Amino acid sequence: MVTKIKKFILYFIIAIVFIIVCWAGFMTWVFVSSKSSTVGELSFDNPLMIPELLEPTIDSEGRKVFNLTFNHGEVEFLEGKITETWGINVPYLAPTLRAERGDEVIVNIKNDVDEPTTLHWHGMILPAEMDGGPHQLVAPGQIWSPTWTISQPASTTWFHPHIHGATADHVYRGAAGLFIIDDKESNDLNLPNEYGINDIPLIVQDKNFNNDGSLSNESKLFSNVGILGDEILVNGTYSPYFEATTNLVRLRVLNASTARVYNFEFDDKRTYKLIATDGGLLESPVEIESLLLSPGERAEIVVAIKPNDSVVLQSNSPDLHSSLLRQRYNGGDDTFDILKIQSGNELINLPKIPSELVKIDWPKTSDVVETRSFELNGKSRINGKKMDMTRVDEVVVAGTTEIWELSNPSEETYHNFHAHGIHFAVIDVNGEEPPDYLKGWKDTVYLPATGKVTVIARFESYVNHEVPYMYHCHILRHEDRGMMGQFIVVEPGANPETTLPSHDHHH
Ligand code: C2O
Ligand code: CU
Ligand code: CU
Repeated sequence: MVTKIKKFILYFIIAIVFIIVCWAGFMTWVFVSSKSSTVGELSFDNPLMIPELLEPTIDSEGRKVFNLTFNHGEVEFLEGKITETWGINVPYLAPTLRAERGDEVIVNIKNDVDEPTTLHWHGMILPAEMDGGPHQLVAPGQIWSPTWTISQPASTTWFHPHIHGATADHVYRGAAGLFIIDDKESNDLNLPNEYGINDIPLIVQDKNFNNDGSLSNESKLFSNVGILGDEILVNGTYSPYFEATTNLVRLRVLNASTARVYNFEFDDKRTYKLIATDGGLLESPVEIESLLLSPGERAEIVVAIKPNDSVVLQSNSPDLHSSLLRQRYNGGDDTFDILKIQSGNELINLPKIPSELVKIDWPKTSDVVETRSFELNGKSRINGKKMDMTRVDEVVVAGTTEIWELSNPSEETYHNFHAHGIHFAVIDVNGEEPPDYLKGWKDTVYLPATGKVTVIARFESYVNHEVPYMYHCHILRHEDRGMMGQFIVVEPGANPETTLPSHDHHH
């Protein structure tokens, strides 16, 4: 009897030890396999694709007319494998739109895919009803034609679908592009501005490919930010190289990924000049070695190239400020080769980058009429609330200045914060003065784990009681799950309804 019990206890202990060893082995395997790296693995055989500039026509009212069509596509990103995609006018991504401050534009957007979607102008200052957010659905077969006057400084803005609940999937399939704005001040600065030659868009996206080449939109085990891909596309090119012909190259970098944060550096650690953030040029260039961009953010940098150069733009382990395990599971330990830049033995010399760029008319704290706080909670809430298309969360008076305090109290995930219809200035990061690279107009700002950022904005004068602007986390799965709110801009003294009609605004 006693030996039977002893035997039983022995087997029991062996079973427990076995389970613990298996669990530890599994967790170690998950931890190790959660790290993605392509460093040293790419052959850089593919010339970087440059999205074509879309030439507008001029209509009878003098407006620049752009025609865009959402369509299905098939692309061979990986040799011998076909990937089904979405694109706008092209199988993947879109042509680049370009206009000058002061231009009136109209964009005819046709939906030739089999789902309703929208097209939002991220970074564009325009009336809410032209903004292309979740209220401006374009059904299959329909055309939506927003029109507005470009009223903001030179900047690199972009456009992408913004349908509530499916933004991550629509963007991931590839429907997105750049809208570059020029103005007199920036033209006079003699910055590198030959598109595709020395002024190069870099739309950076991570993807997961299934064995048959199709896109996988599954999240990684234990990641809480959504899709993190282990391959990188730049302008839809896998393993790309760019042949520089000038001694300076301006890169307009857009993080168009659904969730991944990048920390851009060159493999030889050369420094480069940051000249612009989301909303336009800085007052003066800032010399940096690494650049952190969360989804939706843009930066313009100028890198010096030597004759017979060969340098690789990489992303190296962005600091997510989270716990050790989440740092690993959310991509914080990942490293990527992004783009190789090479040159021949003769380069054209371009004018030096001026030490002063533009004067910025900063919003003043003495003008602030309202301070609001936005706490991003979990994976789906702001200030405890999930997005409701019929609820107006905030009412702002046109032309006034406000402070918005943004925070991510969690140690377990990162967020960022994007607002439509405005550009803001960052005035405080975790209680300290913001670093120089944040001293430009922004519309999206990174909120790492336990991060706090204070921004100030002057609101525009486009008034609409019925159509709201959005603010949200640009980690698109978070946004889709409800981490988004709505504000309307009204005239002084107005007393608007804070419930919106529940039907969508079809056009
Ligand atoms: Cu880039 Cu509300 O979006
Ligand atoms: Cu936006
Ligand atoms: Cu988020």
